[in-house]
Amino acid sequence: MPTTVSATPAAVIVAIDGPSGTGKSSTSKAVAARLGLRYLDTGAQYRAMTWWMLSNGIDVNDPGEIAAAAGKPVIVSGTDPQAPAISADGADASAPIRSEEVTAAVSAVSAVPEVRALITELQRTIAAGTDLAEGAVAGIVVEGRDIGTTVLPDADLKVFLTASPEARAARRSGELKATDGKATADLATTQQALTERDKADSSRKTSPLKKADDAVEVDTTELTLEQVIECVVTLVEKAAADKAGRMEKAAR
Ligand code: DC
Repeated sequence: MPTTVSATPAAVIVAIDGPSGTGKSSTSKAVAARLGLRYLDTGAQYRAMTWWMLSNGIDVNDPGEIAAAAGKPVIVSGTDPQAPAISADGADASAPIRSEEVTAAVSAVSAVPEVRALITELQRTIAAGTDLAEGAVAGIVVEGRDIGTTVLPDADLKVFLTASPEARAARRSGELKATDGKATADLATTQQALTERDKADSSRKTSPLKKADDAVEVDTTELTLEQVIECVVTLVEKAAADKAGRMEKAAR
C-alpha cells in the first residue's frame, strides 16, 4: 500500500515555468540539489513521448495518429537532480530526446490533448509522491510550461522565468555547442527556431505556455545563472517557512 508522505517543510512543491533559454533546467536542478528536493523535467517527458513516436513510425504530423498511440509507451522519469533519468518502454531516452529531430517535432506532439492528459496525470502522481517510502523527500521542483497554471495549480511557490529573445538564443546556441561539440546552427537560425517553438507552445489550445497569475516573474536577461539560482533558492526557503508556519498554526 502506498505510504502517505507527511507534509513537512521538506514537502514544499515548486513550479518553475517559462520558455527555453531562460535557464529553467539549470536553475531547477541546482535549486533542487541545493535544498535536497526532488526534481522533475516535464519537457523531457514530452520529448520521450515524441522520441517513442518517431521511433515507432507514428506520423507526428497527424494529431489523430498521435492521440491513438499516446497511451502505448511507458515513460518513467527519475527525480534525482544530480542524475535526471528518463526512459520510454525501458529504453534510456536521455540522449536521443535532445536530438534536432525530436526538438523539431515535440511542439506538435505536446499540443495533442490526449498526450497532455496522460503526461499531466503522470506528473501529478510523481509530485504527490504517494509511492515514496516513508521518510523519503516529498518536496519537489517541477519545471515546464504549464506547471503553475494546470499541472500543480496549488504549488507552494510558482516561478516564471523570462529573458530577452537575444539572450535566450545565445544560451540555447551555447547549449547546443556543449552537447554536439559543434555549432549546429547560427544564432539567427537558433533564435528563429526558438521563436517558432514558443509561438506554437503559447498558442496551442490545451494548456499553453503561460504565466500563472500568482507566479513570481524573474527576468534573467541581465543575471548570471548563479544569481538566478540564489534568487529562486531564497524564494523557495521563504515558501517552505510560510508553509511550515501555516501547518504549525493548523496543528495547534
Ligand atoms: O523544456 P523543453 O524544451 O525540453 O520542452 C520541450 C517541449 O515540450 C516544449 O517545446 C513544449 C513541451 N512542453 C510542454 O508542452 N509542457 C511542459 N510542461 C513542458 C514542455
